[in-house]
Amino acid sequence: MILVTGGAGFIGANFVLDWLAQSDEPVLNLDKLTYAGNLENLASLQGDARHVFVQGDIGDAALVAQLLEQHQPRAVLNFAAESHVDRSIHGPEDFIQTNVVGTMRLLQSVRAYWQGLAEAPRAAFRFLHVSTDEVYGSLAPAEAAFTEIHKLEPNSPYSASKAASDHLVRAWHHTYGLPVLTTNCSNNYGPLHFPEKLIPLLIVNALAGKPLPVYGDGLQVRDWLYVKDHCSAIRRVLEAGRVGEIYNVGGWNEKPNIEIVHTVCALLDELRPNGDGTHYKTQINYVQDRPGHDRRYAIDASKIERELGWKPAETFETGIRKTVQWYLANPDWVAHVQSGAYREWVQTQYSGHETP
Ligand code: NAD
Ligand code: TYD
Repeated sequence: MILVTGGAGFIGANFVLDWLAQSDEPVLNLDKLTYAGNLENLASLQGDARHVFVQGDIGDAALVAQLLEQHQPRAVLNFAAESHVDRSIHGPEDFIQTNVVGTMRLLQSVRAYWQGLAEAPRAAFRFLHVSTDEVYGSLAPAEAAFTEIHKLEPNSPYSASKAASDHLVRAWHHTYGLPVLTTNCSNNYGPLHFPEKLIPLLIVNALAGKPLPVYGDGLQVRDWLYVKDHCSAIRRVLEAGRVGEIYNVGGWNEKPNIEIVHTVCALLDELRPNGDGTHYKTQINYVQDRPGHDRRYAIDASKIERELGWKPAETFETGIRKTVQWYLANPDWVAHVQSGAYREWVQTQYSGHETP
């Protein structure tokens, strides 16, 4: 089996669902269930013996050691993190605790387990660390996209904590020989995205008749990738990535934020028109910029394509349409997330510590 950490969050849950849709190899899912962790994301796996959920912290060395011993995974995929830049600006503590201290403890637990394996499973074992393009810092308009050898220049508490975790992963390979792989991916979007991040926030606010907050001049550029394409890249890197290597993951899809806002508004105008004929873009509201806001991210994804033959399946046009359609089709998920009811759902649905 594989051990996935953070598998109740946005990307982790998409990954677990996709993995089990394509393979019968079981998944042990370790997630602390912070505000961002939502077991409702995995409701379709209830009663499926291939999915074992454990609520816990990647920094709980005793728990992680026990889980590794008991389940003997062939790989650990680390998605668990505090992931929201704005939250990291208001309160960096949790980011350091999970992304830095937690990753270090996880690496230590995994190293002890890996060193105790017999030769064949030891050689086949992989630790895959899921990271972000934000570790590279901000690009000027005409600068070339980030390659894997771009200097790390993180600018937010979030990206600094992720860069620190990337360094730890590298060091555990260099010093202890742990067979690691690191992926640095651009901004994801798609189903199950918590509506604190730009795209889901736009959709749910638009539908609720609320303002659509655009930071600063709205001309900051992000490189967007549909979450299922990120999941397929991770599967491919796990399968064939060279140990110790970094793979940048992206869709060659740079867009200024304001264009994203207009695209989402236009899709909603088409798919859920306002009864009174008004357009959603009238809800756009320019607000004060984020402190230290990175101007531009762009991923050069040629290494993963050249070495591993990976390419995204979705264009932005197809992916954003699927995303808007998903939110329109899942008002209950949105309502539960917004009211915090998913936490009660967890209480009523799951009583034990370990939850198949
Ligand atoms: P998310 O915030 O939606 O989910 C994070 C998950 O980790 C949650 O389920 C949470 O409960 C869990 N978690 C947090 N702290 C934990 C801890 N100490 N122990 C165990 N579980 C813990 O985040 P996401 O958007 O799904 O991102 C997943 C990973 O991908 C992160 O490492 C993030 O840095 C990286 N990433 C995200 C993006 C993006 O656009 N969202 C892009 C590139 C990389
Ligand atoms: P976000 O989804 O928070 O991702 P990240 O900061 O990790 O790139 O934000 C994406 C972009 O959208 C970023 O440039 C900040 C901007 N943004 C807004 O303009 N308004 C918002 O309400 C939010 C949440 C983000």
